Amino acid sequence: MTLYRIAPSILSADFARLGEEVRNVLAAGADWIHFDVMDNHYVPNLTFGPMVCQALRPHAVKPDGTPAPIDVHLMVQPVDALAQAFAKSGADLVSFHPEASAHVDRTLQLIRAEGCKTGLVFNPAASLDVLEWTIDQLDLVLIMSVNPGFGGQSFIEGALRKIERVRKLIDATGRDIRLEVDGGIKVDNIRRVADAGADTFVAGSAIFGKPDYRSVIEAMRQELARPAGG
Ligand code: DX5
Ligand code: ZN
Repeated sequence: MTLYRIAPSILSADFARLGEEVRNVLAAGADWIHFDVMDNHYVPNLTFGPMVCQALRPHAVKPDGTPAPIDVHLMVQPVDALAQAFAKSGADLVSFHPEASAHVDRTLQLIRAEGCKTGLVFNPAASLDVLEWTIDQLDLVLIMSVNPGFGGQSFIEGALRKIERVRKLIDATGRDIRLEVDGGIKVDNIRRVADAGADTFVAGSAIFGKPDYRSVIEAMRQELARPAGG
C-alpha cells in the first residue's frame, strides 16, 4: 500500500502571510511543506533564503502538533553554502539539481553531515545517469514536470516516462526513497502521475490558487485512493 504525500509549494502562497498560509495548508491536510528556493542565477526568478525557512519552521506543524517536514528544493548555483544554511535553518530534506553542483557527492555528504535528508532533482531534459553513482545516498528523487523557475505552468507529459524509469531504479535498491514530482500537478492528473510511480506530489497553484485548501487536498487524495486504472 503506497503512502502518498501531498507537498504544497509555498511559491504560490501569499508571501505577505506565509506563516498563516503554512499553518492553514497543513490544517487542511497537507503532509509536507515544499520550499521552492530560487536565486535568479540557476533559474530566472528569486524567492527566499534560509532566514525565511527559520521563520516558518515553528509554523510548519500538523494539526496533531507534530512538526511537518520542510522539503527544500534548491534551484540555486552554487549549491553547497545554501544547502548547509537551509539544513541549519530547519529543513528536513534538501534537494538540488546535480548540474548546479561542481561535486555532487560532496554536496550530498555536506547535507547529510547536517543530519538532513538528501534529494536530487531532474529537469525535463536532464539525464538520470548520476543516479547510478548516488542513489544509495538519497532519501528522495524529484522529477520536474515543468522547467524550473515558475509556478502555474502546464504538466510536461514526457515526465511520465521518466517517473516510470526512476520507479524501477528505486525499487531495485530496496531502499525507502521517495519519488516526488513537481510542476503542473492538479486533481485531474495526479492519478496518472501516481500510476507512473510517484508517491510524493508538489502542488503550488493547484492548492494555493484556490479558496478552500481542504477540498482540493481531499480531491487529490480521492484520486489517489481510486483503484488503479479505475
Ligand atoms: C518550478 C516550481 C514549481 C512549483 C509548483 O520551479 O518548483 O513547479 O513548485 O508549481 P505549480 O504546482 O503551480 O506548477
Ligand atoms: Zn519545487
